[in-house]
Amino acid sequence: MKNLLNVLRDDDVDPALMQVIETIIDASKEIAFRVRQGALAGVLGSSQDENIQGETQKHLDIISNQLLKDLLLACAPVAALASEEEDTVVAANPSGKYVVAFDPLDGSSNIDINGQIGTIFSIYRALDSVPHSSELQFNQQGSHQVCAGYVLYGPSTLLAITTGKRTRCFTLDSTQGTFLLTADNIQIAKDTQEFAINMSNSRFWNENMRCYIEDLILGEIGPRQKRYNMRWNAAMVGDVHRVLTRGGIFLYPSDNRNAKQPAKLRLLYEANPMALLIENAGGKARSETQRILDIQPQQLHERVAVILGSVNEVDECLSYLHP
Ligand code: F6P
Repeated sequence: MKNLLNVLRDDDVDPALMQVIETIIDASKEIAFRVRQGALAGVLGSSQDENIQGETQKHLDIISNQLLKDLLLACAPVAALASEEEDTVVAANPSGKYVVAFDPLDGSSNIDINGQIGTIFSIYRALDSVPHSSELQFNQQGSHQVCAGYVLYGPSTLLAITTGKRTRCFTLDSTQGTFLLTADNIQIAKDTQEFAINMSNSRFWNENMRCYIEDLILGEIGPRQKRYNMRWNAAMVGDVHRVLTRGGIFLYPSDNRNAKQPAKLRLLYEANPMALLIENAGGKARSETQRILDIQPQQLHERVAVILGSVNEVDECLSYLHP
């Protein structure tokens, strides 16, 4: 089996970009080790702090953020960082070629229940037109990502990654400490009978979204004429990984719980990297109004509605939203 570095080399990935990817992978291996140790490593539970999004930070959120930050700041090709756990951009090497956005630990509510969690990352070329430490470095459309991926800490530790063409999956061989290629050129099934959405929010959705989900639930006796099953991991990494593996549709629609903040998921370090992985695996990733990868970001921590997965099912959903 080929290891990650050999695959990247065969793809002619820029050595500086490989260095950045290797650094993220090194941090993720350390996070994976601590996740596996759980209570023995003293990493469970919540801290007294909140992040910029007003969410209580778990100990493992803070540890993972610090690990990624320390290693990436010491990585010469990195010009700047943006993290879910940092209020503003973190400046790195002024002559670095790349900027990195990441969610150090997605699905934090799963930490204490031994559920799936993960690290999501997104890499762009640094812009010469703005200072290296400027937030404007990250105002790049998702289609400009040079690499996107996640590390899923589940029963095995998996890396899903794309550097532009294929979406591949690697499995961590913990005896060697290396990620080995276990799925090359992932292709998402075009049709599906599985959906993932937090149903408890249904009364806050708009009427069209409610109608789409109701028709899925009606199954073979409704207009869709097939039975659907629902799965919800409460960690985007777990749900997106299922979609990559066996098809499906994942939705986090906008809702009217909080007028100032209609969407939940973050564009830069959740929606964009997942959208690139999904599209490069033949799937589709939309907000409610446009292709996610075409969105022009305006703010570091901006949020966006997400509908992604099997092409025909995403199209079907959009036909309900825009009849
Ligand atoms: O903030 C991200 C996240 O944890 C996602 O990974 C996940 O899809 C979602 O929030 C879960 O939110 P909810 O609280 O609605 O289950």
